[in-house]
Amino acid sequence: MQRKLAARPSLVITGCNGQIGFELQRYLAQVCRVVALDRAACDLSRTAAIREAMRTIRPDIVVNAAGYTNVDKAEIDRELAFAINGAAVGVLAEECVALQSLLIHYSTDYVFDGNKQQPYVETDTASPESIYGKSKLAGEEAIARSEVRALTLRTGWVAGAHGDNFIKRILKKSRSQQTLSVVADRFGTPTTAPRIASVTADLVRKYFELEDKRSFPFGLYHLAASGQTDWHTYSVEILTRARAQGIALRVQPEQVIAVSATEYAGVAPRPRNSCLEAKKIERVFGIKLPEWKIDVHRVLDEIFQHVRDE
Ligand SMILES: NC(=O)c1ccc[n+]([C@@H]2O[C@H](COP(=O)([O-])OP(=O)(O)OC[C@H]3O[C@@H](n4cnc5c(N)ncnc54)[C@H](OP(=O)(O)O)[C@@H]3O)[C@@H](O)[C@H]2O)c1
Repeated sequence: MQRKLAARPSLVITGCNGQIGFELQRYLAQVCRVVALDRAACDLSRTAAIREAMRTIRPDIVVNAAGYTNVDKAEIDRELAFAINGAAVGVLAEECVALQSLLIHYSTDYVFDGNKQQPYVETDTASPESIYGKSKLAGEEAIARSEVRALTLRTGWVAGAHGDNFIKRILKKSRSQQTLSVVADRFGTPTTAPRIASVTADLVRKYFELEDKRSFPFGLYHLAASGQTDWHTYSVEILTRARAQGIALRVQPEQVIAVSATEYAGVAPRPRNSCLEAKKIERVFGIKLPEWKIDVHRVLDEIFQHVRDE
């Protein structure tokens, strides 16, 4: 007798051209059938577009890597930030409930006010000061209010070889400007997009392997590398490695000027401390995140290769 083959599980990625979305495509393709949606295919500011995409594809898992991520611009573009980071997440949750699908969503260290002296844990009270942080908290709350089976993964200081980020801006400035000033009193932990994607793929594998999906430990988790740095020290690390790899610089690592956030204020307030402790994900899933420099060095080497190819 011929055995009926079970349909290969499917997974949708929204925001597939972002830093995390791009890496998710690479890592998840090995795990299941992936449908990658960019803004044109599923615009999160349009409820009808979200519902139509989900009802047509009927995925087993939705990984929401789309977001309004410009922290300063969000201060003047409040409505759109809340629509994409808040309301749209609620709509995705509703669709996932109807389909009995898992929703994986990314949130941010910027939901905290930064006044804690130690790394933040999942049970700490979120109290964002920026519109971006508030809109991301609205997304977390929409999931918490819903019956959806979800993993909300908070991360921070994301860096990848694809897309725009702090590493690329520092490299560009140090190659084009005469001087470079960087904030030294804002602390966090760089976590790379490939690491976030590979952890997400591990979680997806674990979910698919589980017979009784209801027993999966859904919930809120911090997904961040270990250790901490500040933006100035991080810049020095980037430029030291760039110089060692033969990248021409106008501003040398020792010449980067350390300034206080009050001297170099962006439009949006940013937390003084936004380090996240990731012990829960290790305890529950056995996933241990490495020290931040290990992954950052890999991303740097990929970025330097692109710089050499330019
Ligand atoms: N970057 C960080 O440091 C950081 C830190 C903590 C948490 N996160 C969270 O991680 C997630 C992904 O971040 P990322 O760094 O990968 O961001 P990113 O590189 O800025 O990518 C965001 C993606 O969202 C898409 N997008 C924006 N508006 C959209 C809309 N209306 N409809 C559909 N797609 C839309 C963008 O599309 P286009 O390509 O068309 O612009 C882009 O592909 C976000 O939820 C973010 O809040 C990021």
